[in-house]
Amino acid sequence: MLITLTSKTTKSTISKFRNTCKYFWSKKRNFGEYALVEPAFVTKMKPVPITIRKPDYYKSGSTMITPEEPEIKNAKQIQRMRESCKLAAQILNKIGKFIRVGITTDEVDSFAHNLIIANRAYPSPLNYKQFPKSICTSVNNVACHGIPDCRPLLDGDIINVDVTVFFNGYHGDCSKTFLVGNVDQFGRDLVKATETCLYQGISVCKPGERFSTIGQCIERKAYQFGYSVVPCFVGHGIGKYFHGPPDICHFANYNNETMEPGMTFTIEPVLSQGSQEITILEDGWTAITTDGARTAQFEHTVLITQTGVEILTEE
Ligand code: MF3
Ligand code: CO
Ligand code: CO
Repeated sequence: MLITLTSKTTKSTISKFRNTCKYFWSKKRNFGEYALVEPAFVTKMKPVPITIRKPDYYKSGSTMITPEEPEIKNAKQIQRMRESCKLAAQILNKIGKFIRVGITTDEVDSFAHNLIIANRAYPSPLNYKQFPKSICTSVNNVACHGIPDCRPLLDGDIINVDVTVFFNGYHGDCSKTFLVGNVDQFGRDLVKATETCLYQGISVCKPGERFSTIGQCIERKAYQFGYSVVPCFVGHGIGKYFHGPPDICHFANYNNETMEPGMTFTIEPVLSQGSQEITILEDGWTAITTDGARTAQFEHTVLITQTGVEILTEE
C-alpha cells in the first residue's frame, strides 16, 4: 500500500543508520546489468463471471467502509482468512512456474486472472481504485504497482508479482520477486536480501510486541546488506477490506501500538539498490525509482496468535 509521508512519519524515522548508508550509496553507483522498464500498451479490463462474489468496490472503483482501528478477528473470520490466503499463495506459486523469458506481463495477468476465477475467487486489484488489471507486475526499476502490459520479459529481468484474492468475503495478499532467465549477481543479491528482510520482520511478531519493531528490524537488516527501504510502501491490516489499519512501516518509527492475537496484516518491504525516492507515472499507479535503481519486494499476510505469529500466505 502507498502512503504519503507526512512530517509525522518522516520526523519519527531514526536517521542513525540512514546517514551512513547515504554515504555508501553515493559511492556505489553500479547497479548491475538490466533493462530500464518503459511502460507499454495495456489491454482492456477483463470481465469476472456473474457467479463470483465481488468486493464492494467492484463496480464503482472506490472502497466503502474500512474499520477505524485494527480489527481482532474471531475464529470464523480467521478460518476465512486462512482459506483466502492459502489460495493466494497457491496462485502466486503457479504464476512463478509460468514465468519465463519472452512472455508479456499481460500474459502473466491473463494466466493469473483465469486461475483465480477458476478457483471461484475475485482478483482483488481489478478495479480497486480503478486499477485496470488482476495482479501487479513490477519489473526491475518499477518499485511497486506495475500494471501488466505488452512488454515481453527479458533475460535478466527481476519481476515482482503481487497476488491478492477475494474469496468467501475475505482478501488474502502476497507477493514474491522472481528471476527471469539469467539475472546478474547484483540482482540476485537484492532479491535474496529482500526475502530475508521480510522473514526477519515476521520473526519478531507476537502478542504485546510493538508494530515499530517490525520496521526497525527490517530497516537495520536492509542497511547491513547495503540497500535502502522504500518508505512510502507499507503493510496494512486486511480482512473483508483490502487495506485497513494498522499501517506497517518497514523503517524505524515510533508507532508504540502493540500486536494482539486475532490481528491479520501484511508485511511487504520494498528494498532498493539505490535511492528510496520514487516517482508515480501518469497512469496513476506505476511507481518507478527516481534514479533507475532496481527494487525487490516480498509480501506475506500474517496472523498474530496467542503465542506468536502464523504466516497465512504459505501453501
Ligand atoms: N497487493 C497490493 C498490496 O500489497 C495492493 C495493490 S493495489 C492495486 O497492498 F490496486 F494496485 F492492486
Ligand atoms: Co499488501
Ligand atoms: Co500485495
